[in-house]
Amino acid sequence: MFFLDSSDPKEIKEISAWGVIAGVTTNPLILAREAGNVDLEQRIREVVAVSIGHVSVELTSEDERAMLDEARRYHAWAPDRICIKVPFSEHGLRVTHALTKAGVATNVTCLMSFNQAYLAALAGGTYVSLFSGRIQDMGYDARPIIQSTRAQLDREGLGSRIIVGSIRHFMDANEALEAGAHIVTLPPAILRKMLHNPKTEETIREFNSAWASRGK
Ligand code: E4P
Repeated sequence: MFFLDSSDPKEIKEISAWGVIAGVTTNPLILAREAGNVDLEQRIREVVAVSIGHVSVELTSEDERAMLDEARRYHAWAPDRICIKVPFSEHGLRVTHALTKAGVATNVTCLMSFNQAYLAALAGGTYVSLFSGRIQDMGYDARPIIQSTRAQLDREGLGSRIIVGSIRHFMDANEALEAGAHIVTLPPAILRKMLHNPKTEETIREFNSAWASRGK
């Protein structure tokens, strides 16, 4: 499954029409880059309106009480659609556990290891987000981490779904799916690169020009 890693309603609307996107992930960096000073609630409501599935909105508070208040505020914008993205930490696990008990969807984020992903799943995260590109930045291969996380979830029948994000190239997406990711979240530019193959384009041109010059 693919999600879009974007907060741009125009891009999300356009790509959603392809029928290949099942949800959206945002984060504070993406929102700061794409939305600047736009009101967060307004922006997220626009994203919800042009997409389907969960829209992840990340908490920026670091204290547990403030995180829970922030989560309740975001969740109220669209209770069936907003998924609270919780940065991984001790507070993050407590918040994930509390939100799960309250029936709120969560996406535990910034995960760089199997142990973190397993803890996030045990705490009840609806999604656990492993960051492929950033894991590679540390000099590690993300694939075995994805594989062992998926194997552990399956072995224990845990309901969390693995999102692999921090995708820098579409080969990262292919490898993540092959390794057992349930979902890969892609920046629009990388998804668009998947459209192109010179041989496909050459073949279509050949077929269409044969049809246009038929009988001549
Ligand atoms: C995933 O949910 C995150 O939004 C994202 O993929 C982070 O990736 P980055 O390494 O490009 O910041």
